Amino acid sequence: MAKFVMMSMVFTVVLLKSAAIPIPKVNPKVFQVGDNIGWAVPKMGDNAFYKNWAAKYHFYVGVRLTFKFGPNSHVKRVDKTAYETCNALNTIEDLITDGNGLANVTLNSTGYYYFISPVYDNCNRGMKLNISVSNSSPAVSVGVLVPMMAVVMGFFF
Ligand SMILES: *[C@@H]1O[C@H](CO)[C@@H](O)[C@H](O)[C@H]1NC(C)=O
Ligand SMILES: *[C@@H]1O[C@H](CO)[C@@H](O)[C@H](O)[C@H]1NC(C)=O
Repeated sequence: MAKFVMMSMVFTVVLLKSAAIPIPKVNPKVFQVGDNIGWAVPKMGDNAFYKNWAAKYHFYVGVRLTFKFGPNSHVKRVDKTAYETCNALNTIEDLITDGNGLANVTLNSTGYYYFISPVYDNCNRGMKLNISVSNSSPAVSVGVLVPMMAVVMGFFF
């Protein structure tokens, strides 16, 4: 059995190396912030809602975030200090809806992006988002390797 696992792994590596064809991206390229909830004040006691949301995904250069505004929402891109203190004074970009309640932002470079709601005390109630953006390459290989391994191993067992 160990031999088969080894063979599967070798086979997978060969497959990856010979993949001159575009590798399918496992991770989405467009994200709706908060999924179905959108951009709104999290439920009472769920202050980590957006933190947990961001932790589910891998963000890489070129992805687009869509903020779907709930009632009284607004979003500003700010610096780290402003994010941590929920102070909207250091605004980098004020994201305005397109008239359909959506605001989009493309994450063009690696590093951290911070977003907060400047309305009422929404930020202190958890309406804040911190996104870490990396280069696409590592995510793609890891993201493809796992399903490929599963397919290859399913073939052997
Ligand atoms: C924002 O993104 C959404 C969903 O991806 C799209 O439907 C909408 O047209 C975009 N709006 C603008 C102004 O680009
Ligand atoms: C990313 O690049 C696009 C196109 O140049 C630009 O419109 C957009 O404002 C940039 N996004 C950020 C967050 O700077």
